[in-house]
Amino acid sequence: MFLWQYLTLLLLLTVQIRKAQGCDEFTDLNLSHAIIGTSLKTRLLLYTRDTVSCGTLISHTNMSTHPQFNFSRPTTFVIHGYRPTGSPPNWLQKITELLLARKDVNLIVVDWNYGAANVNYFKAVENTQKAADNLTAFILKMQEHGASLSSIHMVGVSLGAHVSGFVGAKLNGSLGRITALDPAGPQFTGTPPEDRLDPSDAQFVDVLHTDIDALGFREPLGHIDFYANGGTDQPGCPKTILSGGAYFKCDHQRSVLLFLDSVNQTCVSKAFPCSSYQEFLNGNCLNCDRFGAAGCPVFGYDVTDWRDVLLKLGQTKTYFTTNAVSPFCMTNYRMNVMIWNRDVRWGYITVKLHSKGKEAVATINHKAVEFKKYTETKLLAQFDKDLESVEKVSLKFSTGNVFKPKYKLRVLRLRLTHLEGTKRPLCRYDILLEENKEVTFRPLLCEESNF
Ligand SMILES: *[C@@H]1O[C@H](CO)[C@@H](O)[C@H](O)[C@H]1NC(C)=O
Ligand SMILES: *[C@@H]1O[C@H](CO)[C@@H](O)[C@H](O)[C@H]1NC(C)=O
Ligand SMILES: *[C@@H]1O[C@H](CO)[C@@H](O)[C@H](O)[C@H]1NC(C)=O
Ligand SMILES: *[C@@H]1O[C@H](CO)[C@@H](O)[C@H](O)[C@H]1NC(C)=O
Ligand SMILES: *[C@@H]1O[C@H](CO)[C@@H](O)[C@H](O)[C@H]1NC(C)=O
Ligand SMILES: *[C@@H]1O[C@H](CO)[C@@H](O)[C@H](O)[C@H]1NC(C)=O
Repeated sequence: MFLWQYLTLLLLLTVQIRKAQGCDEFTDLNLSHAIIGTSLKTRLLLYTRDTVSCGTLISHTNMSTHPQFNFSRPTTFVIHGYRPTGSPPNWLQKITELLLARKDVNLIVVDWNYGAANVNYFKAVENTQKAADNLTAFILKMQEHGASLSSIHMVGVSLGAHVSGFVGAKLNGSLGRITALDPAGPQFTGTPPEDRLDPSDAQFVDVLHTDIDALGFREPLGHIDFYANGGTDQPGCPKTILSGGAYFKCDHQRSVLLFLDSVNQTCVSKAFPCSSYQEFLNGNCLNCDRFGAAGCPVFGYDVTDWRDVLLKLGQTKTYFTTNAVSPFCMTNYRMNVMIWNRDVRWGYITVKLHSKGKEAVATINHKAVEFKKYTETKLLAQFDKDLESVEKVSLKFSTGNVFKPKYKLRVLRLRLTHLEGTKRPLCRYDILLEENKEVTFRPLLCEESNF
Protein backbone atom coordinates (compact mmCIF):
# COMPACT_ATOMS: atom_id res chain seq x y z
CA MET A 1 0.00 0.00 0.00
CA PHE A 2 1.04 3.56 -0.55
CA LEU A 3 1.73 5.80 2.37
CA TRP A 4 -1.46 7.78 1.83
CA GLN A 5 -3.49 4.60 1.95
CA TYR A 6 -1.92 3.73 5.29
CA LEU A 7 -2.66 7.22 6.49
CA THR A 8 -6.28 7.04 5.34
CA LEU A 9 -6.67 3.70 7.07
CA LEU A 10 -5.09 5.09 10.22
CA LEU A 11 -7.44 8.09 10.13
CA LEU A 12 -10.48 5.82 9.66
CA LEU A 13 -9.31 3.66 12.56
CA THR A 14 -8.84 6.71 14.80
CA VAL A 15 -12.31 7.95 13.91
CA GLN A 16 -13.73 4.51 14.63
CA ILE A 17 -11.92 4.21 17.97
CA ARG A 18 -13.26 7.64 18.96
CA LYS A 19 -16.74 6.54 17.90
CA ALA A 20 -16.33 3.29 19.84
CA GLN A 21 -15.36 5.35 22.91
CA GLY A 22 -18.58 7.23 22.38
CA CYS A 23 -17.07 10.51 21.29
CA ASP A 24 -19.35 12.94 19.49
CA GLU A 25 -18.02 15.19 16.77
CA PHE A 26 -18.73 18.70 15.56
CA THR A 27 -21.09 18.65 12.56
CA ASP A 28 -19.14 18.35 9.32
CA LEU A 29 -21.02 19.88 6.38
CA ASN A 30 -19.96 20.75 2.88
CA LEU A 31 -20.55 23.36 0.25
CA SER A 32 -23.64 21.67 -1.16
CA HIS A 33 -25.29 21.98 2.26
CA ALA A 34 -24.29 25.62 2.37
CA ILE A 35 -25.73 26.25 -1.09
CA ILE A 36 -29.04 24.54 -0.31
CA GLY A 37 -29.03 26.20 3.11
CA THR A 38 -29.33 24.50 6.48
CA SER A 39 -31.85 24.99 9.25
CA LEU A 40 -30.72 25.61 12.78
CA LYS A 41 -29.76 22.90 15.24
CA THR A 42 -27.98 23.80 18.44
CA ARG A 43 -25.73 20.93 19.47
CA LEU A 44 -23.68 21.14 22.65
CA LEU A 45 -20.45 19.17 22.97
CA LEU A 46 -19.03 18.83 26.48
CA TYR A 47 -15.28 18.44 27.16
CA THR A 48 -13.62 18.17 30.55
CA ARG A 49 -10.05 17.65 31.77
CA ASP A 50 -10.75 13.90 31.74
CA THR A 51 -12.12 13.99 28.20
CA VAL A 52 -10.03 16.67 26.50
CA SER A 53 -10.21 15.14 23.03
CA CYS A 54 -13.53 13.34 23.30
CA GLY A 55 -16.71 15.40 23.14
CA THR A 56 -20.04 14.29 24.57
CA LEU A 57 -23.24 15.53 22.98
CA ILE A 58 -25.33 16.69 25.91
CA SER A 59 -29.04 16.64 26.42
CA HIS A 60 -30.85 19.98 26.54
CA THR A 61 -33.43 18.56 28.91
CA ASN A 62 -32.00 15.84 31.14
CA MET A 63 -28.69 16.91 32.63
CA SER A 64 -28.51 13.99 35.03
CA THR A 65 -27.51 11.88 32.01
CA HIS A 66 -24.02 13.36 32.17
CA PRO A 67 -22.33 12.79 35.53
CA GLN A 68 -19.11 14.40 34.21
CA PHE A 69 -20.99 17.71 33.84
CA ASN A 70 -20.11 19.14 37.24
CA PHE A 71 -22.17 22.20 38.18
CA SER A 72 -19.84 23.29 40.97
CA ARG A 73 -17.20 24.00 38.34
CA PRO A 74 -17.14 27.09 36.13
CA THR A 75 -18.37 26.58 32.57
CA THR A 76 -16.85 28.02 29.41
CA PHE A 77 -18.81 28.11 26.15
CA VAL A 78 -17.03 28.41 22.79
CA ILE A 79 -19.30 29.74 20.04
CA HIS A 80 -18.20 29.79 16.41
CA GLY A 81 -19.37 32.19 13.69
CA TYR A 82 -20.48 32.08 10.10
CA ARG A 83 -19.41 28.89 8.25
CA PRO A 84 -19.74 29.73 4.54
CA THR A 85 -18.53 26.28 3.45
CA GLY A 86 -19.91 24.19 6.30
CA SER A 87 -16.55 22.83 7.44
CA PRO A 88 -15.80 22.62 11.19
CA PRO A 89 -13.54 25.44 12.47
CA ASN A 90 -9.93 24.21 12.38
CA TRP A 91 -9.11 25.75 15.78
CA LEU A 92 -11.66 23.81 17.86
CA GLN A 93 -9.33 21.15 19.20
CA LYS A 94 -6.64 23.70 20.11
CA ILE A 95 -8.96 26.05 21.94
CA THR A 96 -10.47 23.12 23.85
CA GLU A 97 -7.08 21.80 24.93
CA LEU A 98 -5.67 25.17 25.87
CA LEU A 99 -8.72 26.43 27.81
CA LEU A 100 -8.91 23.17 29.78
CA ALA A 101 -5.18 23.32 30.48
CA ARG A 102 -5.59 26.82 31.98
CA LYS A 103 -8.68 26.12 34.09
CA ASP A 104 -10.65 23.13 35.32
CA VAL A 105 -13.97 23.96 33.66
CA ASN A 106 -16.84 22.30 31.87
CA LEU A 107 -15.99 23.29 28.33
CA ILE A 108 -18.95 23.36 25.99
CA VAL A 109 -18.46 23.78 22.25
CA VAL A 110 -21.67 25.21 20.84
CA ASP A 111 -22.14 23.59 17.42
CA TRP A 112 -24.68 25.60 15.45
CA ASN A 113 -23.10 24.65 12.13
CA TYR A 114 -26.61 23.74 10.94
CA GLY A 115 -27.76 27.32 10.88
CA ALA A 116 -24.36 28.96 10.33
CA ALA A 117 -23.53 27.02 7.14
CA ASN A 118 -25.29 28.92 4.42
CA VAL A 119 -23.91 30.79 1.44
CA ASN A 120 -26.50 33.41 2.37
CA TYR A 121 -24.90 35.30 5.28
CA PHE A 122 -28.23 36.95 6.16
CA LYS A 123 -29.76 33.55 6.98
CA ALA A 124 -26.90 32.85 9.38
CA VAL A 125 -27.44 36.29 10.96
CA GLU A 126 -31.14 35.50 11.43
CA ASN A 127 -30.21 32.33 13.28
CA THR A 128 -28.06 34.13 15.88
CA GLN A 129 -31.14 35.18 17.92
CA LYS A 130 -32.63 31.67 17.72
CA ALA A 131 -29.36 30.01 18.75
CA ALA A 132 -29.20 32.48 21.65
CA ASP A 133 -32.75 31.59 22.77
CA ASN A 134 -31.79 27.93 22.76
CA LEU A 135 -28.60 28.52 24.76
CA THR A 136 -30.40 30.73 27.24
CA ALA A 137 -32.89 27.95 27.99
CA PHE A 138 -29.98 25.58 28.50
CA ILE A 139 -28.15 27.93 30.86
CA LEU A 140 -31.31 28.46 32.94
CA LYS A 141 -31.47 24.65 33.28
CA MET A 142 -27.84 24.64 34.41
CA GLN A 143 -28.74 27.27 36.98
CA GLU A 144 -31.54 25.03 38.30
CA HIS A 145 -28.88 22.39 38.85
CA GLY A 146 -26.80 24.78 40.92
CA ALA A 147 -24.50 26.38 38.33
CA SER A 148 -23.72 30.04 39.03
CA LEU A 149 -24.15 32.48 36.16
CA SER A 150 -21.18 34.56 37.27
CA SER A 151 -18.85 31.59 36.73
CA ILE A 152 -19.91 31.28 33.08
CA HIS A 153 -17.52 32.57 30.42
CA MET A 154 -18.56 32.75 26.78
CA VAL A 155 -15.94 32.95 24.05
CA GLY A 156 -17.69 34.03 20.87
CA VAL A 157 -16.07 34.31 17.46
CA SER A 158 -17.51 36.67 14.82
CA LEU A 159 -21.30 35.99 14.75
CA GLY A 160 -20.73 33.89 17.89
CA ALA A 161 -19.78 37.11 19.70
CA HIS A 162 -23.26 38.52 19.07
CA VAL A 163 -24.87 35.18 20.01
CA SER A 164 -23.01 35.51 23.35
CA GLY A 165 -24.28 39.07 23.68
CA PHE A 166 -27.91 38.04 23.08
CA VAL A 167 -27.65 35.24 25.65
CA GLY A 168 -26.08 37.67 28.11
CA ALA A 169 -28.85 40.24 27.59
CA LYS A 170 -31.56 37.60 28.12
CA LEU A 171 -29.82 36.70 31.40
CA ASN A 172 -29.83 40.37 32.43
CA GLY A 173 -26.06 40.75 32.21
CA SER A 174 -25.38 38.29 35.01
CA LEU A 175 -22.96 36.08 33.04
CA GLY A 176 -19.43 36.40 34.38
CA ARG A 177 -17.57 37.20 31.19
CA ILE A 178 -17.93 37.44 27.44
CA THR A 179 -14.81 37.38 25.28
CA ALA A 180 -15.59 38.50 21.73
CA LEU A 181 -13.11 37.61 19.00
CA ASP A 182 -13.52 39.95 16.03
CA PRO A 183 -17.28 40.37 16.46
CA ALA A 184 -19.09 40.41 13.11
CA GLY A 185 -19.69 43.82 11.52
CA PRO A 186 -22.01 43.30 8.52
CA GLN A 187 -25.70 43.58 9.59
CA PHE A 188 -24.67 44.65 13.13
CA THR A 189 -22.83 47.91 12.47
CA GLY A 190 -25.02 50.86 13.37
CA THR A 191 -27.64 48.83 15.21
CA PRO A 192 -28.79 49.70 18.75
CA PRO A 193 -27.16 47.83 21.69
CA GLU A 194 -30.04 45.33 22.05
CA ASP A 195 -29.38 44.11 18.49
CA ARG A 196 -25.68 43.39 19.03
CA LEU A 197 -23.06 42.73 21.72
CA ASP A 198 -22.62 45.56 24.25
CA PRO A 199 -20.95 45.99 27.66
CA SER A 200 -24.20 45.45 29.59
CA ASP A 201 -24.41 41.83 28.34
CA ALA A 202 -22.09 40.43 31.02
CA GLN A 203 -20.30 41.49 34.18
CA PHE A 204 -17.16 41.86 32.08
CA VAL A 205 -16.91 42.07 28.28
CA ASP A 206 -13.53 41.99 26.52
CA VAL A 207 -13.33 42.38 22.76
CA LEU A 208 -10.60 41.88 20.14
CA HIS A 209 -10.82 43.58 16.73
CA THR A 210 -8.73 42.35 13.78
CA ASP A 211 -10.75 43.12 10.63
CA ILE A 212 -12.77 46.29 11.19
CA ASP A 213 -12.76 47.26 7.50
CA ALA A 214 -14.40 44.05 6.26
CA LEU A 215 -15.92 41.24 8.35
CA GLY A 216 -15.40 42.74 11.80
CA PHE A 217 -17.08 45.48 13.86
CA ARG A 218 -15.36 48.86 14.00
CA GLU A 219 -16.73 50.51 17.14
CA PRO A 220 -15.96 49.47 20.74
CA LEU A 221 -18.39 46.88 22.14
CA GLY A 222 -16.94 45.94 25.53
CA HIS A 223 -15.46 47.22 28.77
CA ILE A 224 -12.14 46.86 27.01
CA ASP A 225 -11.61 46.71 23.25
CA PHE A 226 -8.27 45.63 21.84
CA TYR A 227 -7.40 46.77 18.31
CA ALA A 228 -4.59 44.48 17.14
CA ASN A 229 -2.32 46.32 14.70
CA GLY A 230 -4.99 49.01 14.53
CA GLY A 231 -7.70 46.41 13.91
CA THR A 232 -7.66 46.66 10.12
CA ASP A 233 -4.88 44.67 8.46
CA GLN A 234 -2.93 41.91 10.16
CA PRO A 235 0.77 41.29 9.38
CA GLY A 236 1.31 38.28 7.13
CA CYS A 237 -2.21 38.39 5.70
CA PRO A 238 -2.57 38.82 1.93
CA LYS A 239 -3.23 42.38 0.78
CA THR A 240 -4.84 41.53 -2.57
CA ILE A 241 -7.69 39.37 -3.74
CA LEU A 242 -5.23 37.38 -5.92
CA SER A 243 -4.50 35.20 -2.85
CA GLY A 244 -8.00 33.72 -3.00
CA GLY A 245 -10.00 32.74 0.08
CA ALA A 246 -7.27 33.72 2.55
CA TYR A 247 -7.75 37.34 1.47
CA PHE A 248 -11.28 37.32 2.87
CA LYS A 249 -10.74 35.56 6.16
CA CYS A 250 -7.08 35.87 7.21
CA ASP A 251 -7.49 39.14 9.18
CA HIS A 252 -10.75 37.90 10.74
CA GLN A 253 -9.34 34.50 11.79
CA ARG A 254 -6.20 36.06 13.23
CA SER A 255 -8.33 37.02 16.24
CA VAL A 256 -8.60 33.36 17.26
CA LEU A 257 -4.86 32.75 16.82
CA LEU A 258 -3.99 35.79 18.95
CA PHE A 259 -6.38 34.67 21.68
CA LEU A 260 -4.95 31.11 21.62
CA ASP A 261 -1.45 32.50 22.20
CA SER A 262 -2.75 34.39 25.24
CA VAL A 263 -4.48 31.30 26.65
CA ASN A 264 -1.28 29.30 26.13
CA GLN A 265 0.75 32.06 27.87
CA THR A 266 3.12 32.01 24.93
CA CYS A 267 4.07 35.62 25.68
CA VAL A 268 2.55 38.85 26.96
CA SER A 269 1.16 41.72 24.84
CA LYS A 270 0.58 44.96 26.73
CA ALA A 271 -2.23 47.06 25.26
CA PHE A 272 -2.16 50.86 25.43
CA PRO A 273 -5.26 53.05 25.81
CA CYS A 274 -5.34 55.57 23.00
CA SER A 275 -7.76 57.57 20.86
CA SER A 276 -6.37 56.24 17.57
CA TYR A 277 -3.83 53.81 16.17
CA GLN A 278 -1.83 56.63 14.62
CA GLU A 279 -1.54 58.42 17.96
CA PHE A 280 -0.36 55.14 19.48
CA LEU A 281 2.28 54.62 16.76
CA ASN A 282 3.40 58.21 17.21
CA GLY A 283 4.31 57.33 20.78
CA ASN A 284 1.65 59.55 22.37
CA CYS A 285 -0.13 56.86 24.41
CA LEU A 286 2.58 55.14 26.40
CA ASN A 287 1.47 56.37 29.79
CA CYS A 288 -0.09 53.64 31.95
CA ASP A 289 -0.39 55.59 35.22
CA ARG A 290 -4.18 55.22 35.41
CA PHE A 291 -3.66 51.48 36.03
CA GLY A 292 -1.32 51.99 38.96
CA ALA A 293 1.40 49.47 39.71
CA ALA A 294 -0.12 46.83 37.40
CA GLY A 295 0.64 49.01 34.37
CA CYS A 296 -1.34 48.80 31.16
CA PRO A 297 -3.61 45.76 30.73
CA VAL A 298 -2.43 42.69 28.83
CA PHE A 299 -4.35 41.49 25.83
CA GLY A 300 -6.34 38.26 26.02
CA TYR A 301 -7.26 35.61 28.51
CA ASP A 302 -5.58 37.24 31.52
CA VAL A 303 -7.08 40.72 31.14
CA THR A 304 -9.38 39.77 34.04
CA ASP A 305 -6.55 40.91 36.35
CA TRP A 306 -7.50 44.47 35.29
CA ARG A 307 -11.24 43.86 35.58
CA ASP A 308 -12.03 46.12 38.53
CA VAL A 309 -10.17 49.15 37.25
CA LEU A 310 -11.58 48.64 33.73
CA LEU A 311 -15.13 48.46 35.09
CA LYS A 312 -14.50 51.75 36.90
CA LEU A 313 -13.20 53.36 33.70
CA GLY A 314 -16.32 52.31 31.74
CA GLN A 315 -15.11 51.59 28.22
CA THR A 316 -11.42 51.55 27.29
CA LYS A 317 -10.10 51.40 23.74
CA THR A 318 -6.58 49.98 23.47
CA TYR A 319 -3.96 49.24 20.83
CA PHE A 320 -1.13 46.77 20.46
CA THR A 321 0.93 45.38 17.61
CA THR A 322 1.89 41.83 16.74
CA ASN A 323 4.26 39.77 14.65
CA ALA A 324 3.00 37.83 11.62
CA VAL A 325 3.29 34.42 13.32
CA SER A 326 3.23 32.98 16.83
CA PRO A 327 4.74 34.08 19.19
CA PHE A 328 2.73 37.13 18.18
CA CYS A 329 3.81 39.50 20.96
CA MET A 330 6.12 42.40 20.27
CA THR A 331 8.30 44.16 22.81
CA ASN A 332 7.73 47.89 23.19
CA TYR A 333 10.30 50.51 24.08
CA ARG A 334 9.85 54.24 24.35
CA MET A 335 12.71 56.06 22.67
CA ASN A 336 13.48 59.64 23.63
CA VAL A 337 15.85 61.50 21.35
CA MET A 338 17.23 65.02 21.80
CA ILE A 339 19.45 66.60 19.17
CA TRP A 340 21.59 69.73 19.05
CA ASN A 341 21.63 70.38 15.27
CA ARG A 342 20.99 74.05 14.56
CA ASP A 343 18.29 73.24 11.98
CA VAL A 344 15.23 71.08 12.27
CA ARG A 345 15.66 67.59 10.79
CA TRP A 346 12.93 65.29 9.50
CA GLY A 347 13.51 61.59 9.17
CA TYR A 348 13.26 58.03 10.40
CA ILE A 349 15.31 56.05 12.88
CA THR A 350 15.84 52.30 12.73
CA VAL A 351 16.94 50.57 15.93
CA LYS A 352 18.43 47.14 16.52
CA LEU A 353 19.17 45.54 19.84
CA HIS A 354 21.85 42.87 20.17
CA SER A 355 22.32 40.24 22.83
CA LYS A 356 24.51 37.14 22.78
CA GLY A 357 24.41 36.71 19.01
CA LYS A 358 20.68 37.42 18.89
CA GLU A 359 19.21 40.48 17.30
CA ALA A 360 15.85 42.21 17.68
CA VAL A 361 14.82 44.71 15.03
CA ALA A 362 12.43 47.55 15.71
CA THR A 363 9.89 48.82 13.32
CA ILE A 364 9.11 52.43 14.01
CA ASN A 365 6.00 52.64 11.97
CA HIS A 366 5.54 56.37 11.74
CA LYS A 367 5.65 59.20 9.27
CA ALA A 368 8.89 61.17 9.06
CA VAL A 369 9.34 62.71 12.47
CA GLU A 370 10.63 66.12 13.41
CA PHE A 371 13.86 66.41 15.39
CA LYS A 372 14.41 69.89 16.84
CA LYS A 373 17.27 71.37 18.83
CA TYR A 374 17.06 70.70 22.60
CA THR A 375 13.51 69.34 22.22
CA GLU A 376 12.72 65.80 23.18
CA THR A 377 11.29 63.65 20.39
CA LYS A 378 9.36 60.65 21.64
CA LEU A 379 9.10 57.48 19.55
CA LEU A 380 7.57 54.06 19.99
CA ALA A 381 10.03 51.31 19.03
CA GLN A 382 8.49 47.87 18.70
CA PHE A 383 10.81 44.89 18.56
CA ASP A 384 9.95 41.49 17.13
CA LYS A 385 11.23 39.77 20.28
CA ASP A 386 12.32 40.45 23.84
CA LEU A 387 16.04 40.13 24.57
CA GLU A 388 17.19 39.14 28.04
CA SER A 389 20.01 41.66 28.35
CA VAL A 390 20.82 44.20 25.71
CA GLU A 391 24.56 44.38 25.06
CA LYS A 392 24.65 46.63 22.03
CA VAL A 393 22.35 49.02 20.22
CA SER A 394 22.50 49.97 16.54
CA LEU A 395 20.92 53.11 15.15
CA LYS A 396 20.42 54.33 11.64
CA PHE A 397 19.02 57.69 10.57
CA SER A 398 17.44 58.18 7.16
CA THR A 399 15.40 60.87 5.49
CA GLY A 400 14.08 58.68 2.69
CA ASN A 401 15.19 61.28 0.18
CA VAL A 402 17.76 60.06 -2.34
CA PHE A 403 18.49 63.35 -4.07
CA LYS A 404 19.28 65.65 -1.18
CA PRO A 405 22.73 65.90 0.35
CA LYS A 406 23.39 63.48 3.22
CA TYR A 407 22.29 64.86 6.54
CA LYS A 408 23.73 64.30 9.96
CA LEU A 409 21.80 63.99 13.18
CA ARG A 410 23.75 65.15 16.23
CA VAL A 411 22.16 63.29 19.09
CA LEU A 412 22.72 64.91 22.44
CA ARG A 413 21.06 62.10 24.35
CA LEU A 414 19.07 58.97 23.66
CA ARG A 415 17.05 56.92 26.09
CA LEU A 416 15.34 53.56 25.53
CA THR A 417 12.75 52.56 28.12
CA HIS A 418 11.35 49.03 28.17
CA LEU A 419 7.57 49.37 28.56
CA GLU A 420 6.62 45.85 29.63
CA GLY A 421 8.77 45.06 32.58
CA THR A 422 11.13 46.44 35.12
CA LYS A 423 14.25 46.49 32.97
CA ARG A 424 16.54 49.47 33.50
CA PRO A 425 16.36 52.17 30.82
CA LEU A 426 19.29 52.29 28.38
CA CYS A 427 20.99 55.57 27.54
CA ARG A 428 23.71 57.00 25.36
CA TYR A 429 25.00 60.54 25.09
CA ASP A 430 26.53 62.43 22.21
CA ILE A 431 26.21 60.26 19.10
CA LEU A 432 26.72 61.43 15.55
CA LEU A 433 24.37 59.71 13.09
CA GLU A 434 25.32 60.09 9.46
CA GLU A 435 22.45 59.45 7.11
CA ASN A 436 22.05 55.77 6.16
CA LYS A 437 25.12 54.70 8.17
CA GLU A 438 24.48 52.30 10.99
CA VAL A 439 26.17 53.17 14.29
CA THR A 440 26.58 50.49 16.94
CA PHE A 441 27.39 51.22 20.57
CA ARG A 442 27.12 49.88 24.09
CA PRO A 443 24.28 51.45 26.07
CA LEU A 444 25.16 53.19 29.34
CA LEU A 445 23.43 53.69 32.64
CA CYS A 446 21.10 56.65 32.41
CA GLU A 447 21.92 59.75 34.40
CA GLU A 448 18.58 60.04 36.16
CA SER A 449 18.77 63.80 36.66
CA ASN A 450 18.81 64.37 32.94
CA PHE A 451 15.32 63.01 32.27
C1 LIG B 1 -21.95 16.75 0.81
O1 LIG B 1 -22.44 15.84 1.78
C2 LIG B 1 -23.58 15.13 1.35
C3 LIG B 1 -24.11 14.30 2.50
O2 LIG B 1 -23.12 13.92 3.38
C4 LIG B 1 -23.20 14.26 0.14
O3 LIG B 1 -24.32 13.54 -0.33
C5 LIG B 1 -22.67 15.17 -0.97
O4 LIG B 1 -22.22 14.39 -2.04
C6 LIG B 1 -21.54 16.05 -0.45
N1 LIG B 1 -21.20 17.02 -1.49
C7 LIG B 1 -19.96 17.35 -1.79
C8 LIG B 1 -19.80 18.41 -2.83
O5 LIG B 1 -18.99 16.85 -1.25
C1 LIG C 1 -32.34 23.59 21.45
O1 LIG C 1 -31.91 22.91 20.27
C2 LIG C 1 -31.91 21.51 20.39
C3 LIG C 1 -31.30 20.94 19.13
O2 LIG C 1 -31.49 21.76 18.02
C4 LIG C 1 -33.33 21.02 20.65
O3 LIG C 1 -33.32 19.62 20.83
C5 LIG C 1 -33.86 21.69 21.90
O4 LIG C 1 -35.18 21.33 22.13
C6 LIG C 1 -33.77 23.19 21.78
N1 LIG C 1 -34.17 23.79 23.04
C7 LIG C 1 -35.04 24.78 23.09
C8 LIG C 1 -35.39 25.28 24.45
O5 LIG C 1 -35.54 25.24 22.09
C1 LIG D 1 -32.61 11.46 32.99
O1 LIG D 1 -31.47 10.63 32.86
C2 LIG D 1 -31.29 9.73 33.96
C3 LIG D 1 -29.96 9.02 33.77
O2 LIG D 1 -29.77 8.62 32.45
C4 LIG D 1 -32.49 8.79 34.02
O3 LIG D 1 -32.34 7.92 35.12
C5 LIG D 1 -33.77 9.61 34.18
O4 LIG D 1 -34.89 8.77 34.11
C6 LIG D 1 -33.88 10.66 33.07
N1 LIG D 1 -35.00 11.54 33.35
C7 LIG D 1 -35.90 11.86 32.44
C8 LIG D 1 -36.99 12.78 32.87
O5 LIG D 1 -35.85 11.44 31.30
C1 LIG E 1 -17.10 18.73 41.10
O1 LIG E 1 -16.17 19.79 41.13
C2 LIG E 1 -15.78 20.19 42.42
C3 LIG E 1 -14.94 21.45 42.27
O2 LIG E 1 -13.93 21.25 41.31
C4 LIG E 1 -15.06 19.04 43.11
O3 LIG E 1 -14.70 19.40 44.42
C5 LIG E 1 -15.98 17.81 43.13
O4 LIG E 1 -15.29 16.71 43.65
C6 LIG E 1 -16.49 17.50 41.74
N1 LIG E 1 -17.50 16.44 41.81
C7 LIG E 1 -17.41 15.31 41.12
C8 LIG E 1 -18.53 14.36 41.29
O5 LIG E 1 -16.47 15.07 40.38
C1 LIG F 1 -34.35 39.36 33.91
O1 LIG F 1 -35.17 40.46 34.24
C2 LIG F 1 -36.53 40.29 33.89
C3 LIG F 1 -37.28 41.59 34.15
O2 LIG F 1 -36.87 42.16 35.36
C4 LIG F 1 -37.10 39.12 34.68
O3 LIG F 1 -38.43 38.91 34.30
C5 LIG F 1 -36.27 37.87 34.38
O4 LIG F 1 -36.69 36.80 35.17
C6 LIG F 1 -34.79 38.12 34.64
N1 LIG F 1 -34.04 36.96 34.18
C7 LIG F 1 -33.03 36.43 34.86
C8 LIG F 1 -32.36 35.26 34.29
O5 LIG F 1 -32.61 36.92 35.92
C1 LIG G 1 1.75 26.37 23.67
O1 LIG G 1 3.02 26.84 24.08
C2 LIG G 1 4.05 25.90 24.02
C3 LIG G 1 5.32 26.55 24.53
O2 LIG G 1 5.10 27.14 25.77
C4 LIG G 1 4.24 25.39 22.61
O3 LIG G 1 5.24 24.40 22.58
C5 LIG G 1 2.92 24.83 22.10
O4 LIG G 1 3.05 24.47 20.75
C6 LIG G 1 1.80 25.84 22.25
N1 LIG G 1 0.55 25.21 21.90
C7 LIG G 1 -0.29 25.71 21.02
C8 LIG G 1 -1.50 24.89 20.75
O5 LIG G 1 -0.12 26.77 20.47
